[in-house]
Amino acid sequence: MALIGVFDSGVGGLSILDEALLRLPEHSYIYLADSLYAPYGEKTSAWIASRSMALCQHLAALGCDVIVVACNTATAQAIADIRSKLTDTPIIGVEPGIKPAAMQSFNGIVGVLATEATLNSDKFNALLATLPEHCRFIKQSGAGLVPLIEAGQADSVETIALLAEHLKPIQSAGADTLVLGCTHYPFLKRVIRQLLGDTITLVDTSEAVVKQLKRQIDLLLPPSLQLMNDGSTQHGTVDFISSKDEAVLLSMAKDLMATDLTVHVVSTEH
Ligand code: SIN
Repeated sequence: MALIGVFDSGVGGLSILDEALLRLPEHSYIYLADSLYAPYGEKTSAWIASRSMALCQHLAALGCDVIVVACNTATAQAIADIRSKLTDTPIIGVEPGIKPAAMQSFNGIVGVLATEATLNSDKFNALLATLPEHCRFIKQSGAGLVPLIEAGQADSVETIALLAEHLKPIQSAGADTLVLGCTHYPFLKRVIRQLLGDTITLVDTSEAVVKQLKRQIDLLLPPSLQLMNDGSTQHGTVDFISSKDEAVLLSMAKDLMATDLTVHVVSTEH
């Protein structure tokens, strides 16, 4: 079975880990949260690039067969560099799902909620330039949301008020589809539905990322060891590492994730 490293600035990548454990529970995972330095979205490109590189090198040194950069900001600012240095380890990134959103939208008006660093990145703007001109994208920074989610306040009054403010331009443009362009934002889905109603289509990329992860693992493992949600009762382990406080990370993982983490052997000792 494979050992998969999942790296994020904080708890956002847990939305990817949750989907991975649902689809690929037989593999083992190391989740690395750089909570001491979250959020990344308001830091400089150079800082994000060098910090992301160091943490991916750490995961590779721990023996990870594949690394998922489960942070849109780090993917946008650093993934090309990471891939060019860690040539022996496949690196999977996450990107705002603007392509699937453009295909799913009926009226061609799509909101994109992401960090400043993601929205301003060359990578995101190059992707945007490939999409059909008839689609209108309303880009909106989610400034301030990540620290609230990191503080365990995804449902708080403060979060609802800030989110309502951020969603106003998207709502008044009449968007029928909203891209959640940061791995932290799936944890706001309930509040977003409360504010925008049930008819808006929410696009997050965790399912697509995990399918890509499965394809990558299949390239590494012999066919006899390739399984995907086959009803097998075999579970891998999940190990949590945080640059700040591992006990807090584990408790937030238990709160935020749908997966029953008690079925996996979890260690927080480092
Ligand atoms: C952040 O750390 O600011 C957000 C991470 C992301 O873009 O997924």
